[in-house]
Amino acid sequence: MAERLVRFGVAMEQSLLEEFDELVDARGGTRSEALRDLARAAVVRAKVGRPVPAVAALTLVYDHHVRDLTEKLNAVQHELGDEVRSTMHVHLDHHHCLEVIVMNGRSDRLRIVAARILAMRGVKHGGVEIITDVGPERHAHAHAQGHEHPPEPSKPSTRKRRRST
Ligand code: NI
Repeated sequence: MAERLVRFGVAMEQSLLEEFDELVDARGGTRSEALRDLARAAVVRAKVGRPVPAVAALTLVYDHHVRDLTEKLNAVQHELGDEVRSTMHVHLDHHHCLEVIVMNGRSDRLRIVAARILAMRGVKHGGVEIITDVGPERHAHAHAQGHEHPPEPSKPSTRKRRRST
């Protein structure tokens, strides 16, 4: 279950605190929850540059009429093999496709792959969210969306991270 919480004092400028409180009110919840989320996000961001296990959601909008682009995107995904966990493709209009590619693998590698895809000619918009600390060993936490996962099966551990969610 949840880890024990430690209390500590935080000092900040009055004006910053007022603006922060407005954010806290807008999102609901407490100052502590908001600070914990900020700290968690900063920790994840710092880790993403290091080679740690991660999952990534890459979103891109591209023009499928651009020569070879569809083939190139396909080829990259085949190269990645089972590092690609899921892909969603939506035909937005006559020209544009939206694709969301969910991958897992090493964070530094995922960042390179994402940059390579986003830099392709014909990719018009996009971005990537890389999240670390979501491997099976760290799975027993409550999610922001308020759902719980069933307990991990006690199988002998394999190197591959098959479980997602
Ligand atoms: Ni399409």
